[in-house]
Amino acid sequence: MGAKLHSMPEIPGKMKERFEAIFGRDYDKFEECCRNDYKKSFRVNTLKISVEDALELLKGNGIITKRIPWTKNGFFTDVKSVGNSFENFMGYIYIQGPASMLPAMVLDPNPGETVLDMCASPGSKTTQIAAMMKNKGVLVANESDYKRIKLLRFNNDKNGVLNSVITNLDGRDFAKSKLRFDKILLDAPCTGEGIVMREWEVIKRWNMKLVIKMCRLQKDLIASAISCLKPGGTLVYSTCTLSPEENEEVIDHALKIGGIELEDIELKGIKTRKGLTSWDRYTYNERVSKCVRVWPQDNGTEGFFVAKLKKV
Ligand SMILES: C[S@@+](CC[C@H](N)C(=O)[O-])C[C@H]1O[C@@H](n2cnc3c(N)ncnc32)[C@H](O)[C@@H]1O
Repeated sequence: MGAKLHSMPEIPGKMKERFEAIFGRDYDKFEECCRNDYKKSFRVNTLKISVEDALELLKGNGIITKRIPWTKNGFFTDVKSVGNSFENFMGYIYIQGPASMLPAMVLDPNPGETVLDMCASPGSKTTQIAAMMKNKGVLVANESDYKRIKLLRFNNDKNGVLNSVITNLDGRDFAKSKLRFDKILLDAPCTGEGIVMREWEVIKRWNMKLVIKMCRLQKDLIASAISCLKPGGTLVYSTCTLSPEENEEVIDHALKIGGIELEDIELKGIKTRKGLTSWDRYTYNERVSKCVRVWPQDNGTEGFFVAKLKKV
């Protein structure tokens, strides 16, 4: 984390209360972290360039980089204008948050597989998945909001993604289809509490009704994802929010549906926390502790939640 930023809107009472309940004694560190400046990060797009060549080009253009310890192709830089760089313009790099790179890494897609990215726009993780698949196999990139399809298509084209089919469906409707996938990423729509430090709009939009509304949608989406997973297939559920209702409660719901098991997630070079097994007056399945929480104050990243499920 670098220099301090001037100001961030006050976190409103109810939201603050909940953050205090989640973080306990760490709340002050969380708030301080939100007010701190954050480093820009990007991923080298190996569909277009090797990591070595990209770093050399960047260095030549005065962009000094430092590897993100938990990734292979992700880097931090102090250069705020990296988004305006030649390398980004050419699709050699993709500007992406350091924790946002985790879900696709946990999904671990391989060339030749059939993969669904259920909520895909603007395509950070679609382009990452395509690079991991080396453009081989089939990648269905779905987005329900027609207005956001354009951006997804733009990013796929710019980054040289050749193995994707873009669909404009409600993710809940995949359950009705006969399609079956080896791997599914459900990077669900959420309240975005983990990115308050970058998008202050999150604070203005936030209220408990929205948390509950998202929780219902997320439960329906995960049920749909489970139903179109092949036996033995992997489903990764992720959000950039901190609410247990949008995270552990959704996974608890998935376990109640049955036919799936939670898997351990092994990540090196990043401090993570276990999934909560109780919240408010609710108790979740003990196995939910296998999920991973990434708290902003632990690594200087955005907040994230990741769960890995296997269809049995
Ligand atoms: C967290 S964003 C996805 C970010 C994306 N995975 C990435 O890494 O760039 C969630 C997306 O889900 C879309 N969405 C919302 N409701 C949906 C639904 N019912 N079915 C499919 N997509 C939905 C939103 O429009 C939004 O683009």
